[in-house]
Order: sequence, then C-alpha cells, then structure tokens
Amino acid sequence: ERIRVFSPATVANVACGFDVLGFALESPGDEIEVRRRNEPGFTVINKTADTVFPSDVNKNTAVVSLKAYLEHLGSEDGFEITFHSKIKPGSGIGSSSASAAASVFAVNELLGRPLAQTDLVQFAMQGEKAAAGVAHADNVAPAIMGGFVLVRSYDPLDLIQIPYPEELYCTIIHPQIEVKTEDARKILRKGITLKDAVTQWGNIAGLIAGLMKGDYPLIGRSLKDVIIEPIRSMLIPGFDEVKEAALANGALGASISGSGPSMFALSSSLETAQRVAQAMTKTFSQFEIENHSYVSKI
Ligand code: HSE
Repeated sequence: ERIRVFSPATVANVACGFDVLGFALESPGDEIEVRRRNEPGFTVINKTADTVFPSDVNKNTAVVSLKAYLEHLGSEDGFEITFHSKIKPGSGIGSSSASAAASVFAVNELLGRPLAQTDLVQFAMQGEKAAAGVAHADNVAPAIMGGFVLVRSYDPLDLIQIPYPEELYCTIIHPQIEVKTEDARKILRKGITLKDAVTQWGNIAGLIAGLMKGDYPLIGRSLKDVIIEPIRSMLIPGFDEVKEAALANGALGASISGSGPSMFALSSSLETAQRVAQAMTKTFSQFEIENHSYVSKI
C-alpha cells in the first residue's frame, strides 16, 4: 500500500495577518510518497539532491506530525516516507510545513480518511513546532485545506476558508540569504501600541472583506503590516526598494512571505505578476543579491 501526494508551498501572514492568515500556491510544492511498513517505526528516504535531512528521524517535521496523528488514532503502524521536495528549505514559503502537511494527509488517505481535513491541521502543527519552536498554523492549514485560510482562534483551533477572486496571482522572490523562522520570531517586539493595533486590525478585516468581495483596490489598500514588517524587513537588504518596484509595476501589494527571506506580491493578472517578478528580481540584483522568482496562481 502506497500513496503519493502533492503539498503546496504556502505564504503565511499575508502582510497584516501575522500567525492568522495564509494561502497556498498552485506551484511549487513538495511531493512525498508514503508506504505502510510491515512493522512499527519510521524510515525516511530523501530523493532531493540539495536537501539535507536531520539524521534523527524524530526531528523530521513529517515524522513528528505523523507520530502525533497516529498516537491520536491509537495506531502502531509504521511508515516509510520518500521525499521528492521541490521547495527550497529556509525560503519562507513553508518548506517544513509542506512535508508536515503532506505526511498526515497521505496517511489519512491510506487509512481510509478516519479524520476530516480540518482535523489534520493540529497534527501538522506539531511538525511546525519541531521545526520553528512554535506551533503556528498559517502555513500548514492552507497546505492541507487549500486557498486562503484564516486561523480565527488557536484555542480552540478554529479554521475558516476564505473565498477569493478567481483571478489572483502571486509573485514570490527568494533572495539567497538565510533567515530562520525561529530567529525571525525572537526579534519581534512583545508589546504593540493601541494605535498600531487599530491600524492592523482595520487592514486584516479589510483584506478578508476585499478577498470575499473580489475588490482588488480594497485588497491592495489592506496589504499593509505596521507591526511585523518594519522589524523583519531589516533582515532583507533592499526590502523597501524591492517592494516599491512591485507596487510601481502594478502589484496590489507586497510584503514578506512568512518569516522571510522571500517576499511576495499579489496581482490581479498573470501578466502583471510576471512583470512584477522581473522588476523585483532586477531590484534585488542591484543590491547584488542572487535571487530567483516564482509566479503562481492562487
Ligand atoms: N506566522 C509565522 C511567522 C510564519 O511569521 O513566524 C512562518 O512561516
């Protein structure tokens, strides 16, 4: 018995929704193959050339999530997981989340779907915790459920799929610098002013309304982050200029993808998203930062 699944790259935070909003890209993504073993325990096989796995399987996000899932079911089954990863680790488009989501999704299918999709998210979050120290859901929830997902609450976990316009494209620029999620969380301020809170919740509500109404100008006006971006953007040389280039070329808005270092921009057409990719790439290059881009429908 084996199954092969695709798990998409995801953009967490979406500017104003730190830890509460994320969306899935059509591509790239990771593919994993899962096979049931005849005995308990886990083995992992890495078919990705440039990815180094932790030698301890217990630190592998896919295994950690799967263990949490199987424990919940009271199952002692063992599995072999083969990774065909296409998402670069550390790029800020949910590479660890994609494998965490993929393993629980795949085994849930293999076992005849004992749990609903939404209920899988809590286990994938355990993998996220192993990778970054915090069990945030804004990558794994969209990886499992697709589209835009709002984490209305963590306790209890309350996940809401948000409708969005048919024509919505994402440009991702991945600069060749390393930013670890764990580090990018440590530098954040613990307190915020009431003024910033008011601005931020106005924007997140505006973004959700804009997505649901298909109101592009409203989406654009709301894609702003006055709390996290000003701090984390200091880790990305050229951030302001690259963002400016995206907006000048027609993007609705742009910000950091998850905890970075990738940046994302949203556009209402494929042509715009491609033009934005070129402009962002060119601007990063002016800062002598090697980078590559993806354009994907959402
Ligand atoms: N919400 C998380 C963070 C996403 O910003 O730390 C990490 O990809």
